[in-house]
Amino acid sequence: MQYQSIKLFLSLLFYFLYCFSPVISLNGDSQVLIRVKSDQLHDSDGKLSNWVTTSDQSPCNWTGITCDAQNKYVVGVDLSRLGISGGFPNGFCRIRTLRNLTLTDNSFKGALSSLSLSPCSHLQVLELSSNEFNGELPDLSREFGSLHVLDLSNNNFSGDIPTSFGRFPALKVLNLGGNSLSGSLPSFLSNLSELTRLELGYNPFKPSSLPSSLGNLSKLENLWVPDANLVGEIPDSIGQLVSLTNLDLSDNFLSGKIPYTIAGLRSIEQIELFNNQLSGELPESLVNLTTLLRFDVSQNNLTGHLSQNVASMSLESLNLNDNHFTGEIPEILASNPNLVQLKLFNNSFSGKLPENLGKICDLVDFDVSTNDFTGELPQFLCHRNKLQNLVIFNNRFSGKLPESYGECKPLYYVRMANNKLSGEVSSKFWGLPELEFLEMFNNNFEGPISPSISTARNLTHLLISGNNFKGQIPSLVCSLRQLLFFDLSQNLFFGEVPSCVTQLNKLEKLDLHQNMFTGRLPGKLNLLIALTELNLSNNRFTGNIPPELGNLPVLTHLDLSNNMLTGEIPVELTKLNLNQFNISHNKLYGKVPSGFEYQFVSSLSGNPDLCSPNLKPLPPCPRPKHEIVYFASVLAICAILMLASLLWSFKIKSDFVSKPKRRWKVTTFQRVGFSEEDICPNLTEQNLIGSGASGQVYRVKLKSGQTVAVKRLWGGNLKPESETVFKSETEILGRIRHGNIVKLLMCCSGEEFRILVYEYMENGSLGDVLHGGGAALLDWHTRFTIALGAAKGLAYLHHDCVPAIVHRDVKSNNILLDTDMVPRVADLGLAKTLQRGAGEIDGAMSRVAGTYGYIAPEYAYTLKVNEKSDIYSFGIILMELITGKRPNDACFGENKDIVKWVTEAALASPEVKTTENTSSCCRDLRKLVDPRMMPSTSDYEEIDKVLNIAVLCTSSFPFNRPSMRRVVELLKVKHHKLESPK
Ligand SMILES: *[C@@H]1O[C@H](CO)[C@@H](O)[C@H](O)[C@H]1NC(C)=O
Ligand SMILES: *[C@@H]1O[C@H](CO)[C@@H](O)[C@H](O)[C@H]1NC(C)=O
Ligand SMILES: *[C@@H]1O[C@H](CO)[C@@H](O)[C@H](O)[C@H]1NC(C)=O
Repeated sequence: MQYQSIKLFLSLLFYFLYCFSPVISLNGDSQVLIRVKSDQLHDSDGKLSNWVTTSDQSPCNWTGITCDAQNKYVVGVDLSRLGISGGFPNGFCRIRTLRNLTLTDNSFKGALSSLSLSPCSHLQVLELSSNEFNGELPDLSREFGSLHVLDLSNNNFSGDIPTSFGRFPALKVLNLGGNSLSGSLPSFLSNLSELTRLELGYNPFKPSSLPSSLGNLSKLENLWVPDANLVGEIPDSIGQLVSLTNLDLSDNFLSGKIPYTIAGLRSIEQIELFNNQLSGELPESLVNLTTLLRFDVSQNNLTGHLSQNVASMSLESLNLNDNHFTGEIPEILASNPNLVQLKLFNNSFSGKLPENLGKICDLVDFDVSTNDFTGELPQFLCHRNKLQNLVIFNNRFSGKLPESYGECKPLYYVRMANNKLSGEVSSKFWGLPELEFLEMFNNNFEGPISPSISTARNLTHLLISGNNFKGQIPSLVCSLRQLLFFDLSQNLFFGEVPSCVTQLNKLEKLDLHQNMFTGRLPGKLNLLIALTELNLSNNRFTGNIPPELGNLPVLTHLDLSNNMLTGEIPVELTKLNLNQFNISHNKLYGKVPSGFEYQFVSSLSGNPDLCSPNLKPLPPCPRPKHEIVYFASVLAICAILMLASLLWSFKIKSDFVSKPKRRWKVTTFQRVGFSEEDICPNLTEQNLIGSGASGQVYRVKLKSGQTVAVKRLWGGNLKPESETVFKSETEILGRIRHGNIVKLLMCCSGEEFRILVYEYMENGSLGDVLHGGGAALLDWHTRFTIALGAAKGLAYLHHDCVPAIVHRDVKSNNILLDTDMVPRVADLGLAKTLQRGAGEIDGAMSRVAGTYGYIAPEYAYTLKVNEKSDIYSFGIILMELITGKRPNDACFGENKDIVKWVTEAALASPEVKTTENTSSCCRDLRKLVDPRMMPSTSDYEEIDKVLNIAVLCTSSFPFNRPSMRRVVELLKVKHHKLESPK
């Protein structure tokens, strides 16, 4: 009996416990949480300070805790972006009701063992992305039967993917991207038949092909495997992925054709196959797949019935550039109403472009350059008035520029060089208001430049050489004040060059050679103070060479040959420091001024009446009587000068070097009014303005009044690093000309040292101004202009240089500001050119590239740097401009940087907003914005826009960051609502 009553008691007790278990579990949950906090978390910012037991014991309103609405069980722990560190806090899993555990973007470290994870097998969601976990991936037991989401991306996991990863029956999301996984890509992942997202990109896998069983993943919506060493062909079974919306297999080594079966991708929106070794023709089905129904787009009244029928035509972005594709683009591509981006460049496509391309879609970005396309340009390309980039150079397009392009208001980047286009260019096209870059060289265009060009007020590049343009240069060209490169060479222009061209004071290159210009050279050319290249050869210019040409401060390239210029050579020209010089075949006469170097003698030929006492093939000049006296005094003066210069050079040596000057190698990149002797003695303590890892920077004021910045690199041969810096600066900067990139004037290398001479930037670096007490000078407008300028400089390096250049050390201290606060990107000492092709992506560096606080997170695990790393760093600069804070300001707390701080504030919900309704912004910008710039209400809208861009640029996934060219576009967009980047 006693036994019976004990049994009864026990069952009663059990019943009692069972009924009140919610209460017990609540108490238990709070205690578990508090216990985990104290034992397993390091909450340096005190973000979890409200995790304290209260009277009701409920943890449900604690930071990061979600409870079941009915029973108040703890079901979710989300500690994203709270600056927390520690090992994997498996203690949370003692809460049996817990379903979601999210630790994204913190500083959790260490290995994840199967043992430490085993208490967590009841979880549905485990998100550990963007932490510092390392070691092998844990082998997970079969008990993880309810796991839906496993996100281990952006950590430092290495080794193989364990076979147990093929055995999660319920898994929908598997993200292992951005790790150091080095095994091969296993086929057992295709057993995960519930998967909707599979992300494996940015891992150094062993060369692997996509398993043919991939087609089993019929629920897959996102397949993201860029830069993962994929080889072989795309399996036919890919066509079974009927739900796929995003396919990204870019930056791999895939070969063969796109399989015909791709027609099965009924839901596809984005196809990224660029930078592989794919070949063959595009299957008709690739574009069919988006249509399902076939109709004839050449009928005119499509719009009505299209909108009803084509919901399934979803392809928005088709990027196949940098492969070996051949054949034609099927016409049916034009029947896709959603196409926004089409990039086919660097392939061998041929034939005509689809005639109706653009007619029913909002095409924005169109790049088919470097292929073998023929035929006319599709006339509807900008039908819907969205086209911004029209890039078709290096093809064989012919016929006229469609009239309709003249209506394409958003067009700003046009490159059509090296085709066979002909006919006149309409006045509307010349005057497109947003046009910045117009490149049409080597075509058969004809007719005049329309005066309407004056409405293209932002034009920086007008490159139309090698056509049959004719007529006079309209003087309204002179209102294009942003013009940097003006090249009309090899056309049939005639008449006088309008004298107002000298108002184009940003002009760096003026090339009018091989036309039929007449009249005198424009006066006051000395106003073109930025001019480095002036080519007026092969025209019919008459009159004298204007002496003021000798005053152009940075001219290095002067060609006036094959004209009908008369008079003597002005002695002022000897002041120029030219790399290239030609005045041959004119009608110049008289004595060649002394000071002309022998190397230029051939540049004087074809002027039969020139004479010189010493330049050999020229006849000696007839000697007047009094010359003898003259001669004697000249001799005396020379002697004095020689003596003086001897003393002078002796002084230099004792000041600075012991090597004789002959041992130096000097290269000038611009015409410079000074030499190394003017520089070296001034590299003294008083002139020192900065010191860095690679050397010291001096400000040197020259006798001419000009100020230059001189970087002296450490150690010469003794330090291989300074050699690298020297080489990359001289090779890269020496050939770059851009208004937002600092100019290298001269370099000079001796055995013991290297010096680099740059133009001096009055206002120092953006970093110094912003963080050194000058911030009040920078109002929002100035900051925005700086952001846009710097973006343009970087976009130039990434997109306009061939091969592309990655800066690798973008930071506010490397953005210099001139007197007008115009920014110049500087310090390309770590820059690298990106050689595409050859398959090797040489990014792994023995030394860290970049500066702490600006380094993109993926660098930590890939050691690879590409354009995307620069874009990340640029995003940091945008954040600095908005907040006025340094990237590692102490106020962010121990485990936090500017990105976390800004992103958190930017994502803050509307509730956080201050109550007074002064700004239309949906977030609390006021907390973020640097108060020193005292922004006006209208500024906030633009700040909000720039903030969005900054957040995009600093996305932890390189893939999500917009290109620099896109950043420039986004910055320029007037309204602040942004679409998501592609
Ligand atoms: C949490 O809830 C309790 C009682 O419901 C309340 O007193 C406390 O202020 C709340 N804490 C927070 C941070 O909202
Ligand atoms: C758990 O995660 C899933 C998937 O991310 C999400 O849809 C759900 O809202 C989360 N639940 C809680 C309680 O956080
Ligand atoms: C593509 O369209 C053509 C023409 O309508 C049709 O004959 C063909 O079967 C389609 N192919 C696929 C794979 O749908």
